[in-house]
Amino acid sequence: MKAILKAVIVTILIMPGLVLLAQEKKEGPAYGYIGTKKCKKCHLKQFKSWKETNMAKAFDLLKPGVRPDNKKAAGLDPQKDYTTDAECLPCHTTGYGQPGGFVSVEETPQLIGVSCEMCHGAGSEYIKKEHMSLKNKHYKLAEVVKVGLVSPVTGDRCTEVCHNDKSPFVDKAQPFDFAARKDEGTHEHIPLKYKHD
Ligand code: HEC
Ligand code: HEC
Ligand code: HEC
Repeated sequence: MKAILKAVIVTILIMPGLVLLAQEKKEGPAYGYIGTKKCKKCHLKQFKSWKETNMAKAFDLLKPGVRPDNKKAAGLDPQKDYTTDAECLPCHTTGYGQPGGFVSVEETPQLIGVSCEMCHGAGSEYIKKEHMSLKNKHYKLAEVVKVGLVSPVTGDRCTEVCHNDKSPFVDKAQPFDFAARKDEGTHEHIPLKYKHD
């Protein structure tokens, strides 16, 4: 009896570790989201121009009364408040349901809308001193990508994360045109100063 009990307890204790291991194997380690304030410190120009884009404002689309005709046409209720709806939040906030990601407007205001890390990857690791930092301006891109940075951001990244037919508004018949959307949807692009290869 004692032996069985012991086995049960041991299993319970190591289970979360096993689950974590399995997840890491499948998806790689999950880095945490840190919010736009951190990126803004070193990338003020990108931040300012991103703020003006539809991406930064994507959360507002979930509010009642916004785009009523388009919502009706897509089979949604124009008067409903979708700002806490788990069906919508994964693509209209940053990192919803993931470590450090969006929880609510009150708790995580830095993660409202489609912000830096939705396109460039969760930043908890790659912004450490030994990776992308003012002390290491000449980081090697491959090294930073290994710890979670997504760069360059491609059309595939956009369709994988948001612009796919899980959205009520993405037209299956019309492929996502990355080249046309890049300028209106991301931010002003400033050539990098340092070498990273
Ligand atoms: C402490 C400063 C610092 C912080 C904080 C920081 N970065 Fe950077 N980042 C840099 C530097 C320095 C470069 C290289 C700039 C250059 O070459 O001109 C860079 C480059 C980049 C690049 C280009 C990558 C490449 O080489 O292709 C991206 C994308 C980027 N940062 C995104 C972010 C995001 C997103 C955040 C927030 C999660 C962030 N950065 C936070 C300093 C920082
Ligand atoms: C898989 C990601 C995804 C999910 C889930 C999602 N959206 Fe979106 N949503 C998008 C994308 C991408 C666009 C922009 C489409 C475009 O312009 O190409 C968008 C656009 C919109 C728009 C503007 C449409 C227009 O043409 O005016 C509204 C409103 C909207 N979404 C509401 C919602 C609501 C409400 C939900 C939940 C029921 C939801 N979305 C779920 C990705 C998503
Ligand atoms: C909707 C996606 C998207 C969002 C949101 C986004 N970026 Fe980018 N970012 C891009 C694309 C696309 C590029 C250009 C990739 C390329 O050069 O091929 C880029 C390039 C960059 C670069 C390289 C230099 C440049 O200006 O092109 C930096 C630095 C950067 N982003 C930082 C940020 C920061 C900081 C934020 C948040 C304030 C942010 N990005 C938000 C898509 C995005």
